[in-house]
Amino acid sequence: MGHVTHGIPLDLATRLVESQQLRAAVETGTFRGDTTLALRALVNEVWTVEADHGTYLEVAPRLVGQPGIHRLEGSSDTVLASIAPELTMPALYWLDAHSLPWGHASSPSSTT
Ligand SMILES: C[S@@+](CC[C@H](N)C(=O)[O-])C[C@H]1O[C@@H](n2cnc3c(N)ncnc32)[C@H](O)[C@@H]1O
Repeated sequence: MGHVTHGIPLDLATRLVESQQLRAAVETGTFRGDTTLALRALVNEVWTVEADHGTYLEVAPRLVGQPGIHRLEGSSDTVLASIAPELTMPALYWLDAHSLPWGHASSPSSTT
């Protein structure tokens, strides 16, 4: 079996940021914002893209007003192209946008 993690493998992300001197990150699939915040602790600027409107609203209290975090709503296949012009520095990409069995961030486990 391969190495399976929930969220970004932080040890790998840290090694990439340090070895490549990365100052920015792009995440597709914001979900609950865990990786967004973890990446922000590693780099100065993080762009995160979420397609599901309910999830985008639910995670807002954790991310809105955080310096260096840029939230974008929409599907990554179109939104990524709009981020590209702003990325003037090498960036780490965490491409993690996919559908969820329960459809949005309010999973059964988040309500227990
Ligand atoms: C597994 S979660 C992401 C987890 C998060 N990246 C992390 O590391 O904690 C997948 C997310 O992708 C979102 N999603 C699904 N299709 C998408 C798309 N085309 N563009 C952007 N987000 C999408 C889902 O709504 C869900 O919030």
